[in-house]
Amino acid sequence: MSESHVKLAPSILAADFTRLGEEVAEVEKFAAASGVDRLHIDVMDGMFVPNISFGMPILKSLAKVTRLPLETHLMIEAPERYLEEFVASGATSLLVHAEGARHLHRTVQRIKSLGVKAGVVLNPATSLNVLEEILGDVDIVLLMTVNPGFGGQKFIRSMLPKIQRLRMMIHETNLGCELEVDGGVDPQTAADCVSAGADVLVAGSAVFGTHDGIEKALGRLAAAIKH
Ligand code: DX5
Ligand code: ZN
Repeated sequence: MSESHVKLAPSILAADFTRLGEEVAEVEKFAAASGVDRLHIDVMDGMFVPNISFGMPILKSLAKVTRLPLETHLMIEAPERYLEEFVASGATSLLVHAEGARHLHRTVQRIKSLGVKAGVVLNPATSLNVLEEILGDVDIVLLMTVNPGFGGQKFIRSMLPKIQRLRMMIHETNLGCELEVDGGVDPQTAADCVSAGADVLVAGSAVFGTHDGIEKALGRLAAAIKH
């Protein structure tokens, strides 16, 4: 089976923020060649995760300079407080954690009513069972392959069978839903994720944090997911 349909979602968390516009322009330049079809924007509040990143101002600035969709991963308590504001700031999809959204069904419906894609995110220790009553409603399921909060962590290999099981669930329930993975993705682990059934890979350090630049980094990831 050809795996050329697999997409990359570079996470700007690992970018050099003094040169964010330039780095994003470089990603965009090589996007078509490497399978990049969105940017991944990690919003952290220091409560849901033990780290604070950035929020609406960064989204608004990026929306002005890139045509890439801005997939926004909300690692915040009670994300339902901010859905409208993130969409108004340029988010093209909103991903909420099952562990942080008390009324997940309502939140997913509200995200869709705002005209953007809705995704549900699961932490490594969260069972796929929580998807049972919501899978048919979502556009994306994002499986964390590290504990959220920081870039540059080691991929948790025991998540590979979870990816496989989710692939089967999606096959049985919701053919249109994307299976995305986030955390510790590099050329080696990317290939494992694709073999397990992932069709979108988030990558931060493996895109923005390498010694030889974004073009080469994207080339390595693209080569890895085609095998
Ligand atoms: C972690 C974030 C990830 C992070 C991935 O909490 O959700 O998106 O940016 O970074 P890497 O690819 O470096 O593991
Ligand atoms: Zn993320």
